[in-house]
Amino acid sequence: MASSIKAERFEQLFSNSGVGIFIVDKERKIIEANEAFCKIFGFTYDEIILQSALTLHLSYASYVNFANIAFNKVRNNESLNLEYQFLHKEKKILWLRIAGDSIPNNKEVLWTITDITIQKENEQKICHLNESLSLEVKLQLKKLREKDKQLQFQSRLAQMGEMLSMIAHQWRQPLGAISATTSFLSSKLMLGQVDHAEFEEEIERIETYAAHLSKTIDDFRNFFKPTKQKEEITLESMVDKTLNIAKPLLTNKNITVQTDFTCKETIQTYGNELGQAILNIIKNAEDALLEHTVENPKISIRTYKDDKKVYLEIKDNAGGIDEAIFDKIFEPYFSTKLAKDGTGMGLCMSKTIVEEHCKGHLSVHNEAGCAIFTIALSK
Ligand SMILES: Nc1ncnc2c1ncn2[C@@H]1O[C@H](COP(=O)(O)OP(=O)(O)O)[C@@H](O)[C@H]1O
Ligand SMILES: [Mg+2]
Repeated sequence: MASSIKAERFEQLFSNSGVGIFIVDKERKIIEANEAFCKIFGFTYDEIILQSALTLHLSYASYVNFANIAFNKVRNNESLNLEYQFLHKEKKILWLRIAGDSIPNNKEVLWTITDITIQKENEQKICHLNESLSLEVKLQLKKLREKDKQLQFQSRLAQMGEMLSMIAHQWRQPLGAISATTSFLSSKLMLGQVDHAEFEEEIERIETYAAHLSKTIDDFRNFFKPTKQKEEITLESMVDKTLNIAKPLLTNKNITVQTDFTCKETIQTYGNELGQAILNIIKNAEDALLEHTVENPKISIRTYKDDKKVYLEIKDNAGGIDEAIFDKIFEPYFSTKLAKDGTGMGLCMSKTIVEEHCKGHLSVHNEAGCAIFTIALSK
C-alpha cells in the first residue's frame, strides 16, 4: 500500500514537473518521457516514445559526440550537467541544460532538461552587440586619433606662421638699416668719397645688425623647441622669456606691458610649451587691442599663489571677450579673425598645453572691459 502511494507520487512528480524528464535505455532509445519534455521538443508522447535519441540531435555527428562527452560518462556513474544543442521537431535549434544520472540495474539513463534557448540567444545577442560596440569604439578612437594628429599638425603650422610673422617683424628694422648702410656706402663709392675709417665703421655696423638677425633666429628656435622633460621654472622667468619675443612688437604698437610678480615659487613643468601658450594669449590680447581702438592699450601680467597652486594672469583692456562667442573660443578653428590671418588654433593649443601637458587649468573671464586669462598650475 505504502509503496503504491509512493509510486503514485512519483508518477505525479514525473508528469507535472516543469523540468523535462526522459529515460533512455542502453541502446539510447527513449523509453519514457514526461509532458514537459514533449513540450520542449514539440513531439507528442506517442511520436517520440521508443524512438532513438538520434531524433533529438542536430546531426549524427552531434549524436555521437554526445555519447562521448555525456552518455558514456553517465553510464559509468559520473553525474553530469552541461549545456548542449538539440533539435526541435520543427527543426529549430534548442539550447538545453541537461543533467544525467544512471539507473544502474537497467543500464538506463535518466535525463532532466531545461530549455535555455532564449537565455542563450540573448547571450549571443549581447555578445554580438559587445563585438560591434567594441568595433565601433575602436573605429571612433582611430578617427579621434587621426583628428588629434591633424589638429597637432594644424597647431604647429599656425605656430610656425605666427613665428614667421614675428621674425619678419623683428628683422624688418635691422634689414632696413643694413640696406640703408649699403646704399650709403655704394653712393660714397660712386662719388669716389671713400674714407677708410668711415667704411670700416659702417661695415662693423652691418655686422652688428647681422649678428642681431642671427640672434633673433636662435631666440625663436629655442623658444619653439619642444621640451622633452619637465624643468624647474618660475612663472616670472616664463613671462620674461615670452616678453623677450613679443615685446618689440607690442612696443611698436604703443601697447604698454605691465608686470607684477608676487609669486616667485619654482614649479616643475614643460617650460617652452608653457611659453607658447603664454605667447598665444599675449598675441590675442595684442590683436584685440589693435582691433578696438583703446585709449591706453595695456596688457597686465601678474602672478600669485595659494596653498596648492600658482597662478598667471594675463589681462588686456580691449573690451573683453564678446559674450556671443564666449563658449567657443577654445574650440579648434574658431576665429573671428579669419578674414585677416586668424587660424583659430591659438587658444585650443594653449588649452591643450596647459591642461594636458602641464596638468593645469586655463580659464577666462571678463571683468570691467577687460579679458582675463588665468593659467593655474599645481605647485
Ligand atoms: N583677449 C581677447 N579679447 C577678445 N577676444 C579674444 C581674446 N582672445 C581671444 N579672443 C577671441 O577668441 C578667438 C580665438 O582665438 P585663437 O584660438 O587664438 O584664434 P585666432 O587668434 O587665430 O583667431 C579669437 O578669434 C577672438 O575672437
Ligand atoms: Mg590667436
